[in-house]
Amino acid sequence: MKPVISKIAGCGSYLPARVVTNDELATKLDTSDAWIVERTGIRQRHIAAEGEFTSDLAFKAAERALADAGLVADDVDMIVVATTTPDNTFPAVATQVQAKLGLGHGTAFDVQAACSGFIYGLAVADNFIKGGQARAVLVIGAETMSRILDWNDRATCVLFGDGAGAVVLVAQENDHGNPGNNGTGNSAARGILSTHLHSDGRLADLLYVDGGPSTTQAAGYLRMQGREVFRRAVVNLTDVVHEAIAANGLTADDIDWVVPHQANKRILDSTTRKLGLDADRVVITLDRHANTSAASIPLALDEAIRDGRIQPGHLILMEALGGGLTWAASLIRW
Ligand code: ACO
Repeated sequence: MKPVISKIAGCGSYLPARVVTNDELATKLDTSDAWIVERTGIRQRHIAAEGEFTSDLAFKAAERALADAGLVADDVDMIVVATTTPDNTFPAVATQVQAKLGLGHGTAFDVQAACSGFIYGLAVADNFIKGGQARAVLVIGAETMSRILDWNDRATCVLFGDGAGAVVLVAQENDHGNPGNNGTGNSAARGILSTHLHSDGRLADLLYVDGGPSTTQAAGYLRMQGREVFRRAVVNLTDVVHEAIAANGLTADDIDWVVPHQANKRILDSTTRKLGLDADRVVITLDRHANTSAASIPLALDEAIRDGRIQPGHLILMEALGGGLTWAASLIRW
């Protein structure tokens, strides 16, 4: 039997209708469009409507990804949702999406790795597919970050937005040998070549939410030591990207598109420079979406596929860092 690779068969995304500009924030906070654009690159963000929940955004992105893949909900045997803003403590957002899709078979669960969540979800799904336990997996990143922001804290509330993105991963026999996380793979294969996950729980106080069911019995607010997160992001992202490239016997020059987590334009620019990557090859949605945590990578991926930048055979690098701290990278041959 030939080895199996996880191929991305379809992609979709969804943004809430309401757009909040920096100027609108400046009417309620001591901030300005100029400050936010200069320090972050963010110009606006989408904010979920009252009564619009993470599972609603996730469902809409999932429907679009399924349509793009030419599949129906019944074909799916696993749903993985990466989120740090679930509708409720339980059930998982993934099971809520399963219900909205009218599905009663397979399995559905959430993964929580903050802004790195989408790559964590991708890694989980990829390993289930490679292990033969799933054949068609919806991997969704979905967030309503607006619900955990302290709207009086100008240092954090201007940075985030709401949204969702999804991919459908399918098992495909691979003629190119077994792609792997250990350098033994063949990078000509089409699909997920490798995933690289890291965390350091000792750094939790750099970026966290100050509430939860077991502590305050309330959702709490996002808290962040911005400068230290910035510093760690550049160092850790550079390391994990080097790791991913080396594991596949490739160089930075081989990468066609970088689809990064969209946290801050200055983090993206510093990381791109350190890695010697071409800045024109980085997909940026941050200016319009702000930081949508686990949703930012599939939102950016969907945009670059729709507008034709990403083409069959292209080598795609994804990278992210988030609360935990967690950080991760993945290389995908489109
Ligand atoms: N508008 C105007 N002034 C502001 C704002 C604002 N929105 N926010 C903070 N300031 C002020 C501060 O109060 C401070 O004023 P002071 O000098 O009078 O005390 C001044 O600006 C400088 O504050 P710093 O926090 O030192 O500003 P810094 O240059 O570090 O920029 C920022 C802050 C943008 C958050 C930066 O640290 C950063 O980008 N960090 C990365 C964190 C990040 O992107 N996190 C996202 C989540 S993690 C992830 O997804 C990777």
